[in-house]
Amino acid sequence: MLKWWQETVFYEIYMPSFKDGNGDGIGDFKGLLEKVPYLAELGVGGIWLTPFYPSPKVDNGYDVSDYYAVDPDYGTMADLEAFVAEAHRHGIRVIADMVVNHVSTEHAWFVESRSSRTNPKRDWFVWQDAPNNWESFFGGSAWEWDAGTEQYYYHSFATEQVDLNWANPEVEREIWKVFDFWLDKGLDGFRLDVINNLTLTRDFMDNPVVDGEQQHVFDKDQPGMMAKMAEIGERIRARGDYFTVGEISSDNLAEIERYAGSDGLDVTFNFNFGSVASRDGIVAELARMQQVYADGRMPTLFFGSHDMSRSWNRLADGREDVAQLLSMLMLTAHGVPFVYFGEEIGMADFVPESMREMRDVQGVYAYELALQDGKSEHEALVAAQEKTRDKARAPMTWPEGFSDKTEAWIGEVTPDFARGQRMFAFYQALIALRKTADFCEPGYRDFKVDGELLTYVRGEHLVCLNFGAAREMENKWGDLTPVLANLDVVVDADRIMLPAFAAVIFKI
Ligand code: GLC
Ligand code: CA
Repeated sequence: MLKWWQETVFYEIYMPSFKDGNGDGIGDFKGLLEKVPYLAELGVGGIWLTPFYPSPKVDNGYDVSDYYAVDPDYGTMADLEAFVAEAHRHGIRVIADMVVNHVSTEHAWFVESRSSRTNPKRDWFVWQDAPNNWESFFGGSAWEWDAGTEQYYYHSFATEQVDLNWANPEVEREIWKVFDFWLDKGLDGFRLDVINNLTLTRDFMDNPVVDGEQQHVFDKDQPGMMAKMAEIGERIRARGDYFTVGEISSDNLAEIERYAGSDGLDVTFNFNFGSVASRDGIVAELARMQQVYADGRMPTLFFGSHDMSRSWNRLADGREDVAQLLSMLMLTAHGVPFVYFGEEIGMADFVPESMREMRDVQGVYAYELALQDGKSEHEALVAAQEKTRDKARAPMTWPEGFSDKTEAWIGEVTPDFARGQRMFAFYQALIALRKTADFCEPGYRDFKVDGELLTYVRGEHLVCLNFGAAREMENKWGDLTPVLANLDVVVDADRIMLPAFAAVIFKI
């Protein structure tokens, strides 16, 4: 018996950018509610919502100032409940982003903690008299001086995102309550933000620096992390049929896969596959994953998120056939797929042309660091454009527009509705096929990599994915009926002729 999430195609929604329902230029629950039928038509069975909790939004909600409420920009608790009910009515489950590595410096816990060295919440955060060499994942020192109490606090991301001290059992108990609260609200599980970064020890060894670049060795995956992950997974599973997906800050398969499974979280994000800089090597990486996850556990499959450039630009070179090739891989392979909103209509990157248009804190940090390094304003802008995650955060291009009264909170991209319709139909067909038993079952038959050609059989379906130039392959199956293809593929009794970037599914 498969678990529900093993047969589900998920869809990531970046809260401020999906649909504005009240005309203030920011996506919200009212807008989301209107679009549930769209998602049902696409065929997805699960939604991952990025953080919707009250937040000063230095990092767009990944700086939570209250774990038990909804940010007014996104609506009210009643709006959230109405949306979840509507999704459930359409057979779509909803998981929430849980950011429990850090909170906003405006969170009441931290306001208390920094009020004096003897405050009962002092030890809920990580305070030190002197900083070590740890750098923030956004750049710059990870330690910030607090003039009031004359110590440094630790922040692994922005200065305004202060790390919780997971070595303190009180913190952990409080976070269990947060999990319970949202499961009681009817959510179906969690996406756990940077979950292998939790501070569990008090060793503070300096990180090694190689060729001027800090290696994040001692500030993540600390001793005890595996047991902590198992505990989190177990606690949530013990409450019912819920799903957990962990964001492991790594692009190394061995580091990612070890936290996934019945003694960890259900699955972890495979950045080794999804966030690569080019499509060279994707086939080889999938082959490695096929071996590692042959024990029945599942990897995740995705080519986009709110933290990286869109796959349309990064991997598909702005080509529809390549974008469809990638989608066929993602939606027919063994794993749990996550479609990033807009990908199903072939949305392209948005690149801010000036710092005035730049919204992402990581882009802003890159700019400031470049200026400090003596770079010119133009060079600093280029560095910021490189780093900014705004690229994937432009609002969804709906035919009726994103917002009806005002400009969106971030720059928009020019829509191409004809392309959108073709891409949507392709995704829809793939997702419908994915729901048949052939593609839900774990594992492959006849998994084969031949140069840049990848082929595998799932149930009674043969999938051919050609990441290289036009070529032929042997037809050892005989009678093949094409079910879905991005390009014209010719088959005879002995051979299958595949154009460059062809993606085709046959019924055997
Ligand atoms: C995760 C989120 C990212 C955020 C960071 C800090 O990587 O996906 O958007 O900036 O955590 O919370
Ligand atoms: Ca709004």
